[in-house]
Amino acid sequence: MKELRSSWFPFLLGVVILVMILKDVLWPPHNETPAEKISDKGWYAPDINLVPKTSDGDQIRYGRELIVNTSKYFGPKGIIASITNGMNCQNCHVEAGTKPFGNSFAAVAANYPLFRNRSGQIESIEFRINDCMQRSLNGKEIDSLSKEMRAMVAYFNWIGEGVPKKTKPAGSGIVEIPFMQRAADPQQGKMIFENQCQRCHGGNGQGVMFPDSTGYIYPPLWGSDSYNIGAGLYRISRLAAFIKYNMPFDLTQSSPQLSDEEAWDVAAFISSQPRPEKRFTGDWPKPETKPEDFPFGPYTDGFSEIQHKYGPFIPISEAKEKQKGGLK
Ligand code: HEC
Ligand code: HEC
Repeated sequence: MKELRSSWFPFLLGVVILVMILKDVLWPPHNETPAEKISDKGWYAPDINLVPKTSDGDQIRYGRELIVNTSKYFGPKGIIASITNGMNCQNCHVEAGTKPFGNSFAAVAANYPLFRNRSGQIESIEFRINDCMQRSLNGKEIDSLSKEMRAMVAYFNWIGEGVPKKTKPAGSGIVEIPFMQRAADPQQGKMIFENQCQRCHGGNGQGVMFPDSTGYIYPPLWGSDSYNIGAGLYRISRLAAFIKYNMPFDLTQSSPQLSDEEAWDVAAFISSQPRPEKRFTGDWPKPETKPEDFPFGPYTDGFSEIQHKYGPFIPISEAKEKQKGGLK
């Protein structure tokens, strides 16, 4: 009996290894959409180390510094003003907005000024930056002529230098993932959060601060120091897509770790948690232009706020198309 086991064991081990190797070839995982892998093809950000040591160069470097260490300048203990929540722009615009699929700034200089349905007007880059100041950083606007605003604009123009006007390099901004057939499920999402996110963002999603509390090592995902309900990330399509391509932060360097469904569910969980309730009453002056996942009415389509928050979004999309057709 003993001999039998010892002679079979290497053989069995061989079979197990072979099956593991062939598994993905024979039975490819099919919960995954053939969405883009994070790729290094396409747009590259220019190299910050090659910016000349001139006063223009200094302005670009200062702009980048403000985006990387926003809290140091504008956070609760900010050295310029105390007008934001302690997060950094870079928390949501990975590697100072240079990383494809990381909510990159590649398309900003080429597309602004830009008409946006949320404000119903043509927005300058300064206006858009102040949007993120007031919503994502739950803070206050800064003056368009301030040294800091001029530096950030210079940084955006430098990043977008090589990008032709009115084009969007692949992987810029939030790269969307397809809607699911079903609604996103906060209960499922809670388990994903516990297994894959809380080791950094903390059991209660409040993140981890530097010991001197000048900013976050791991930013908060909800609660009083997080972005407010007027921020783009509060919409679960933005949040799910950001998470899919960027989180868990240490593991997504070459390919996403979460399936689309997991990304939607964990986004639903995060958006079901409390956060600052700042309302922007002028938003979406034309309610028919509200995106499927904008969770506040009034709507022109008859779907509930709850469905607009968690889905299913496909019926809303279809109704939108019909409405458009009817208006022609
Ligand atoms: C909590 C996350 C978060 C933080 C922090 C944040 N942003 Fe954003 N930002 C977003 C999201 C989400 C979008 C929308 C992207 C999309 O829909 O493609 C966005 C969009 C932008 C855009 C427009 C990009 C485009 O291609 O149209 C600019 C410019 C911008 N942010 C600048 C900033 C600056 C400057 C800061 C810091 C002062 C900042 N953001 C902080 C989440 C954030
Ligand atoms: C290894 C640590 C780590 C893990 C695990 C991790 N994150 Fe993050 N997360 C970060 C860091 C660091 C940032 C900020 C990135 C930066 O500043 O460069 C971040 C930023 C974020 C942001 C945008 C900023 C904010 O605070 O809202 C979201 C949303 C987010 N993470 C969600 C998740 C989710 C969901 C998971 C689990 C699927 C997860 N993270 C797992 C480290 C982590």
